[in-house]
Amino acid sequence: MIELREVSRIFESPAGESLTVLENLSCSFEAGLSVAIEGPSGSGKSTLLGLLAGLDQPTSGQVIVAGHALGSLGEAGLSRFRAQNLGFVFQAFHLLQHFSALQNVVIAGEIAGLQSPLKAAQEALARVGLERRMGHLPGQLSGGECQRVAIARAIVARPKILLCDEPTGSLDRVNASKVFDLLLALHQDLGSTLVLVTHDPHLADRLDRQLLLEGGRFVSGAA
Ligand SMILES: Nc1ncnc2c1ncn2[C@@H]1O[C@H](COP(=O)(O)OP(=O)(O)OP(=O)(O)O)[C@@H](O)[C@H]1O
Ligand SMILES: [Mg+2]
Repeated sequence: MIELREVSRIFESPAGESLTVLENLSCSFEAGLSVAIEGPSGSGKSTLLGLLAGLDQPTSGQVIVAGHALGSLGEAGLSRFRAQNLGFVFQAFHLLQHFSALQNVVIAGEIAGLQSPLKAAQEALARVGLERRMGHLPGQLSGGECQRVAIARAIVARPKILLCDEPTGSLDRVNASKVFDLLLALHQDLGSTLVLVTHDPHLADRLDRQLLLEGGRFVSGAA
């Protein structure tokens, strides 16, 4: 289960002004669901996903993921929690450019403490259809292929929770649809909770729940 309790995130600008990006958000959803987060650019979707991943802390309120209040885990505890429970697909991929597709995925498996990170990485890359591209560097892969490497990296440790920030945002319609189908299939196979940020209402409608963020608040889907 994922729960937000009156979560706010306020950023200070360099000039000292405060910017309230998320304001008193509360909601919860059961483990195993698929949830879309929608909202205009700048509405705080990536900020919210960062809070769910424990990559950032709320200014006030609590984020509780799989029974853990993230604010009380501490840095080392959070790192362990992330490695063991979460897969994150970033808006801009964030692959290591000097490492092959395979190495990018193996490293994530090592960090998660897998017994056979190489085997798990090969399986994850095969699962996303990249068994013949494992030795390529990210710069030698297409955008859609990089996106699939990022997904393989996120699923290598079979996470309970898969967080995806516009995983199809940089793809054409056909490839976006393929990547989306793949994420849904993985979510079903792994039984993991899927939280996915998207601007595409057609894709969002294929998930179990839709949360709409506007002006720092949920305007629908949270109740
Ligand atoms: N570290 C930061 N410091 C200051 N302001 C920030 C920081 N991170 C995000 N913001 C601000 O918070 C707001 C929300 O940003 P966020 O990236 O969460 O939006 P988004 O909904 O993901 O947008 P997009 O659809 O364009 O990806 C923006 O106005 C942004 O400038
Ligand atoms: Mg964003």
